[in-house]
Amino acid sequence: MLLDGVAFRPDNAQNAVTPLSVAALRVLARSGFSLPPALANNGGVSHGGLRRLVTRFFNAERVAAAVPVVDEVAAELLTGLRGQLEAGLPGDLVSDFARILPCRVLMRLLGVHGEDPLTLVRWSDDALELFWGRATVDRQVELAESVATFHRWLSEEVSGGSVDKDSLVGALSQYLLPEGTQLDRATAVAVCFFVLIAGQSTTGQLIATVLRRALEEPEGWARAGAEPGFPQAWVEEILRAESPVTSWRRTTAHEVELGGVQLAPGSQLLLMLMSTGADRDVFQQPQLLDPHRNNVRHHLAFGAGRHRCPGASLARTEAAIALRAAARSLPEAVTVRDSARPPMLGLLSFRAPMSLPIVLGQAY
Ligand code: HEM
Repeated sequence: MLLDGVAFRPDNAQNAVTPLSVAALRVLARSGFSLPPALANNGGVSHGGLRRLVTRFFNAERVAAAVPVVDEVAAELLTGLRGQLEAGLPGDLVSDFARILPCRVLMRLLGVHGEDPLTLVRWSDDALELFWGRATVDRQVELAESVATFHRWLSEEVSGGSVDKDSLVGALSQYLLPEGTQLDRATAVAVCFFVLIAGQSTTGQLIATVLRRALEEPEGWARAGAEPGFPQAWVEEILRAESPVTSWRRTTAHEVELGGVQLAPGSQLLLMLMSTGADRDVFQQPQLLDPHRNNVRHHLAFGAGRHRCPGASLARTEAAIALRAAARSLPEAVTVRDSARPPMLGLLSFRAPMSLPIVLGQAY
């Protein structure tokens, strides 16, 4: 289905899972919010060019150049966290580290300035909850206000036409469509909106699960800090077994038969990406975490085909560095007992621990 973009279109990929209330729609409309087809929800001809523009920011060269940035930001955040814990204050590997690191790295890679990373993180998480969650009417209005502010800020950035040609906004402002006309502002904003969300929230969620599982596994934390190659292998195994993006959507363009079922045009499909990692025909004992499976990459955590995640390499690299750095900076970290069952983010397509409180040296 992922490989057949003609029968299975991505148009519904970003639709709100819970229909938005009139009050929430009003908030969005007042701020001029719109999400025209841009990347993940674009099955049209403009997709290829926009995707190429975005992919340039996350190619192998850029990811290699990002390594020292990830190292630097991780070290800074972990020094702060260690200081907090040594002073007897609470510390949390999700809120103090995993959620912030990808945002700070992305800002550097895309040339985004002038906004507090914590605000960007909140905007991004609010957008995920608004479009993929089951919020009440009151909560929807709250989330819509946050998302509208995010969208307005992006619109101003795009209209301001960044002077930095190397930034994402700069590249979009010079971008010409195949017919030679300039990209409209709404689509340019939609590209930035998706990239800023896709590039940080999902990676933060991956890091949260990677850290939690390594702390739970006997020897996992110690090996992550000491054994070359272990962090990369661990990240891949978590992507297979417990990816943050559990599912993705497609819709049928015409009548099509699937597994003996006749689907009408416009059928809404939920593709369970994460369950491909539990396929017993592909993975032996899929319930076990085994970082050294030789076919560990045969999962669909990043999708496949023409919409396959262009940030996969960055996400893998960041998560591996984050694990190694955390295990080295906080070798005596142990999870606070109740965090064995942390509150989980449970949106339609996103799943990860929302907190991971730790202490130094002794379990509660
Ligand atoms: C653990 C982290 C991540 C996971 C699990 C993930 C997963 C996915 C999935 C499942 C898709 C849809 C694929 C499809 O429709 O076939 C996707 C698309 C996308 N992702 Fe990611 N992603 C992650 C991180 C990132 C990062 C770090 C970035 C950018 C820095 C990024 C940017 C994008 C973009 C731009 C698309 C749309 C591509 C297109 O439609 O052509 N993602 N991602």
